[in-house]
Amino acid sequence: MQNFDTMVTEHLAAIPDQMTAMLSEKFKRDTVVAIEHMLPSACVAELHSQASRLLQESATRRDLELEVTGGTPRNYLSVGREAIHAERGAITQFFECDAIRDYLSKITGEPMHRVPYEPEEYIINSQEKSGDTHGWHWDDYTFALIWVVEAPGVMNGGRVEYIADTTWDKADPKSCLEQYIRSREIHSRYVRPGTCYLMRANTTLHRVAPLTGDTRRTVIVFTYASEADLRDGSISHETMEEIYSPELTAA
Ligand SMILES: [Fe+2]
Repeated sequence: MQNFDTMVTEHLAAIPDQMTAMLSEKFKRDTVVAIEHMLPSACVAELHSQASRLLQESATRRDLELEVTGGTPRNYLSVGREAIHAERGAITQFFECDAIRDYLSKITGEPMHRVPYEPEEYIINSQEKSGDTHGWHWDDYTFALIWVVEAPGVMNGGRVEYIADTTWDKADPKSCLEQYIRSREIHSRYVRPGTCYLMRANTTLHRVAPLTGDTRRTVIVFTYASEADLRDGSISHETMEEIYSPELTAA
């Protein structure tokens, strides 16, 4: 799509400041905010058609329990950044669009940067059958924008669940995670297809609840770094390496 960037830039410039300020307040209060109006419908259609086609052509099934997040499960289809990037399509244009990053920075109240680790730039994940889930975890970098391509009916699971203001104890992830789940309020959100949510993902413990029927939940996850992330030499990528090790080793 030749004019993706221009269309998005014009669309975002027309959003009233008052609406952006309201989203910003919600984000600061809840650490997660749904955004309904991010893209013009033609760009939404481009994103969805690329994601759906790549899922059919290039997806790999993941079924594992992840040690680094205390043994929580991952059961879904995924398409990694390399296969998506090779097409230079709408998903890549979305990630590289300055106007989108600038707009999201107004909501978070701080500069957002392209993540300095290519495998985490963007990825497509799709839970496709009953029981499929993306278990409890934190992200390596501060911000995640999750674009919802397909969502189950409201009674069929697949909701995003989260516990705000939490810290990933990598020395003992299992006890730390269990302690939070036992003692803290778990928020649960249904996010409509064609919209997205922005999350402070390195301090918000989160998961995709298991699907409760044979339905689908497909998302494109975009990762962005904060200023602090860029200066933080201790950020590591065990999660990506453990889930996607064959591809990353080959890359
Ligand atoms: Fe995540």
